[in-house]
Amino acid sequence: MAHIPTSTGSPSWRASVLTLFPEMFPGPLSVSLVGTALEAGLWSLALHQIRDFGIGRHRAVDDTPAGGGAGMVMRADVLAATIDRARETDGDLPLLYMSPRGTPLTQDRVRELSHGPGAMILAGRFEGVDERLIEARGVTEVSIGDYVLSGGEIAAMVLIDACVRLIPGVLGAEESLTHESFENGLLEYPQYTKPRDWEGLSTPEVLMSGDHKKIAEWRRAEAERLTRARRPDLWSARGKNR
Ligand code: ADE
Repeated sequence: MAHIPTSTGSPSWRASVLTLFPEMFPGPLSVSLVGTALEAGLWSLALHQIRDFGIGRHRAVDDTPAGGGAGMVMRADVLAATIDRARETDGDLPLLYMSPRGTPLTQDRVRELSHGPGAMILAGRFEGVDERLIEARGVTEVSIGDYVLSGGEIAAMVLIDACVRLIPGVLGAEESLTHESFENGLLEYPQYTKPRDWEGLSTPEVLMSGDHKKIAEWRRAEAERLTRARRPDLWSARGKNR
């Protein structure tokens, strides 16, 4: 197990990742906003090598699927031992398994997780994990989208990145959160900056007007137009569950 720099004493959000490839971390989580927050101790990252709990001389972590078929399945006993050991050091955290079969990750779920103590994340490889583990350890399966990755590590990074940027003190201005995509059930309105005219294209007049009420109305209308056109699912879900 490896711990990457943490705590200045203040409570910090804890990410605990169970993986066969701990060397992939922190990777992209070490740069920019999220990396600075890691160095500042606003969140911590613990890595647990599943192979350390493998069986026999070859430290096997997987085996052939019961009932036959292609691929290999991660063993419940090996994963349970990894989880149990990780819980001893990292405490009681929501236990998530990154999987294309999981409940789709949403900004609401990200917000909820970011308000909690952190997350313990199982990043799988191969065809999946023995179903008994899911039941026996109270695992929640989470998907980052309708496509299949070669393993759960990049999906775990996506989840951690999305959560960490919502931890108080990580983003500079609270302002930048309130208008962003999904925060109000809408996609974000289009943004412009200097120069005012570029390649024959102009910044919309209303944004140069200085009339804050008009600007807010224009942005709202644009956010609604984009959401209706691009994400009819979000548009029709608005008002529900909020
Ligand atoms: N592992 C492989 N594909 C995945 C996906 N789409 N979401 C989460 N974890 C995954």
